[in-house]
Amino acid sequence: MRTDLAITLSLAGRTQAPLKQAVPTRSGGFGGVPGLVAYLREHHVRALIDATHPYAATMSAHARDAAQLTGTPTTTLGRLPWTAVPGDRWIEVADAAAAVAYLGSAPRRVFLTMGRQAIADFSRAPQHDYLIRSVDPVAPPLAVPRAEYILQRGPFGEDEERELLQSRAIEVLVAKNSGGTATYAKIAAARGLGLPVLMLGRPSELPHAGLTRISAVVAWLDHVLDSPIERGV
Ligand SMILES: NC(=O)c1ccc[n+]([C@@H]2O[C@H](COP(=O)([O-])OP(=O)(O)OC[C@H]3O[C@@H](n4cnc5c(N)ncnc54)[C@H](OP(=O)(O)O)[C@@H]3O)[C@@H](O)[C@H]2O)c1
Repeated sequence: MRTDLAITLSLAGRTQAPLKQAVPTRSGGFGGVPGLVAYLREHHVRALIDATHPYAATMSAHARDAAQLTGTPTTTLGRLPWTAVPGDRWIEVADAAAAVAYLGSAPRRVFLTMGRQAIADFSRAPQHDYLIRSVDPVAPPLAVPRAEYILQRGPFGEDEERELLQSRAIEVLVAKNSGGTATYAKIAAARGLGLPVLMLGRPSELPHAGLTRISAVVAWLDHVLDSPIERGV
């Protein structure tokens, strides 16, 4: 724990009961780039770390632009995408609309695991049976006749994921390529059962070319805060 640094974690405010964090948090949008610029200035922020979810493209772009406008040193802490291994049956699709198109007109049993914000497109395919997992309730529900909702927060284990897929006779999964370990078990379980996964592509305009290890971000921070400009030399 770095007691020499005053760290603030910014949450989007989407989750009703976010997990408790070891550092002070703030919640909710800043009000676009101008709002973030004002926040950085008002709070004399000396370094900005973009540790957003890989699909939070807007926030990442705002962070990059606001850092540039204020001259705030910035880096990203990103998660590397998962890569397919032998046995995986991934179909890479650009987005949820492309996933809907790929599913086609014949009814299928579909597991949507990509978070509640991106599922609205599936209301255009009411012929399927859906299993939908999210941390908070999907409100309003998807406008389809057959959808089962599960409220759960990861991490998930492979055995429980396999059990879930089998108990609902799931035929295909739709997932984001989030990377990391917390939500990978469904991918491994799908592989074990020979099920296809429609993998939504990451937003292409992301400036997430940065660091992938927390230790590297800490080293970057030490370097930035020790720079002659930051020390006022
Ligand atoms: N954010 C999350 O907690 C989270 C977690 C898991 C998955 N995702 C996925 O990422 C995708 C985009 O999510 P998103 O809407 O959160 O991001 P986004 O589309 O990049 O951001 C939309 C707006 O939300 C606000 N915002 C986002 N992240 C913020 C943060 N850390 N602190 C303060 N404000 C923040 C900003 O509002 P202002 O312009 O007003 O500043 C931003 O312009 C979705 O597909 C979602 O499922 C997000």
